[in-house]
Amino acid sequence: MTTYRIAPSLLSADFARLGEEVRNVIAAGADWIHCDVMDNHYVPNLTFGPMICQALKPHAKTPDGKDVPIDVHLMVQPVDALAAAFADAGADLISFHPDASTHVHRSVQAIRSKGCKAGVVFNPAESLDVLEWIIEDIDLILIMSVNPGFGGQSFIESALRKIELARKWIEASGKDIRLEVDGGVKVDNIRRVADAGADTFVAGSAIFGKPDYAAVIQAMRKELSGGPSFGTLTSS
Ligand code: DX5
Ligand code: ZN
Repeated sequence: MTTYRIAPSLLSADFARLGEEVRNVIAAGADWIHCDVMDNHYVPNLTFGPMICQALKPHAKTPDGKDVPIDVHLMVQPVDALAAAFADAGADLISFHPDASTHVHRSVQAIRSKGCKAGVVFNPAESLDVLEWIIEDIDLILIMSVNPGFGGQSFIESALRKIELARKWIEASGKDIRLEVDGGVKVDNIRRVADAGADTFVAGSAIFGKPDYAAVIQAMRKELSGGPSFGTLTSS
């Protein structure tokens, strides 16, 4: 049975205290740490590089010392060299936008050859067609429910249909592939996103924009636990 994961996005964290923010949000119940890497080329914003990922790696642990996966979302073009650099910097999962890569399959190989899990990301107006040729080689599909580049945007409703379609692709493949959703996810819509078929939820402003991270994460888990939906509730 699939388990739910909540992946707070550091994009809305306090950049002057990133290590502390990572520790605090893990203590509050985060399952993964989502890192939005922006290059001011593929997207009109600029965030952080592999050195910051490397610096954060020792902080990405539970209070009892268990590693918490670092989920790197590359919004960069080209993809392969930075993907390799983030793998070397301690990333556990690395996702990229297929439209930013000239050779999508090669980018997946570049990530996996480093021992990381590989994901492909779909913008709001992008079709899932490339999955036909890549689904056997990936570990994660990330559906954008906002246009990439900024936190704090509103959830785009058509993403729900795309999540349903992606879930069908995953079921047909018979593979263990995570279905993650990124952008505008809040306590009041997370249940609909889960019911569409998502199992992993990125949330930036919804968590880091509030004083009590644990209260938000618990409220999200409560929503996810309320009645029939795709997965089962877990904090592991
Ligand atoms: C946008 C990023 C998101 C962003 C989500 O390009 O990929 O991860 O941080 O932020 P919220 O949850 O505030 O929409
Ligand atoms: Zn992201």
